[in-house]
Amino acid sequence: ERSSNVQTRPPVVTIMGHVDHGKTSLLDKIRETKVATGEAGGITQHIGAYHVETDRGVITFLDTPGHAAFSAMRSRGAQATDIVVLVVAADDGMMPQTAEAIDHARAAGTPIIVAINKMDKPSADPDRVLNELTTKEVVTEEWGGDTPMARISAKTGEGIDDLLEFISLQAELMELEAPLDGAAQGVVIESRLEKGRGPVVSVLVKKGTLKQGDLVLAGEHYGKVRALTDENGQRVKSAGPSIPVEILGLPETPAAGSEFLVVTDEKKAREVAAFRTNR
Ligand code: GTP
Ligand code: NA
Ligand code: MG
Repeated sequence: ERSSNVQTRPPVVTIMGHVDHGKTSLLDKIRETKVATGEAGGITQHIGAYHVETDRGVITFLDTPGHAAFSAMRSRGAQATDIVVLVVAADDGMMPQTAEAIDHARAAGTPIIVAINKMDKPSADPDRVLNELTTKEVVTEEWGGDTPMARISAKTGEGIDDLLEFISLQAELMELEAPLDGAAQGVVIESRLEKGRGPVVSVLVKKGTLKQGDLVLAGEHYGKVRALTDENGQRVKSAGPSIPVEILGLPETPAAGSEFLVVTDEKKAREVAAFRTNR
């Protein structure tokens, strides 16, 4: 497949951290403040992936896929994440899954930005968190290290603009690029069976542009894209690099972390799917 037209693409950010430190709350707060109210019809349901427009450009966020899925994505060579935002609750400090997330990010070679969350709590102790993180060689820029850290509250929204700024600066340094043209490739973020809709497969496009009508091979399954919807449930015709989108039309639900690609030959798709099933 010849593809040209390489362009700057948005960063893909995965939120990681210990249980209950506020990963989902942070995602919800960013979405609430950055997505024009009303357009989603007041939907507050949680979604695992979305993109927002900031003053400095688009940022795509993924909720922690569970560390197992993160590893699976990595081991399949389909690394979906450019930047890890490590959420650490300021009242709780570094915990086992905080340390694990650091290890995962390091193994994947993914830069880390720390969000010290729950700053609104009277028991918040951010200096303690900074100290604890140094035991994992994560040292704040404030102390001469190379890790940006934002003090935030997913409850009040405090510090979230700083965090978005850090993400954009990091992304600029990384000079992220992808071809816009050509057959789409990417990774499955999550998939589920929905009543009345059938298998709904949430994917992140990594390169090329995914379109309605494309024949998609994802893990052990293939099918024609019947419809594409964005994170607000709105129909879209296509999705380019770093943009998450939901696919309707696959016969079953491929595993999170599976790679997908658009193929032109249905016979080939069937053969590869059968090979993978019998492997
Ligand atoms: P898991 O997905 O279960 O690992 O949790 P999580 O990291 O997504 O945390 P979640 O967003 O579910 O938040 C856990 C609890 O902390 C909830 O009760 C939130 O309301 C609360 N919480 C999250 N962020 C803040 C914050 O900034 N301040 C305060 N006061 N509470 C917060
Ligand atoms: Na929780
Ligand atoms: Mg959560």
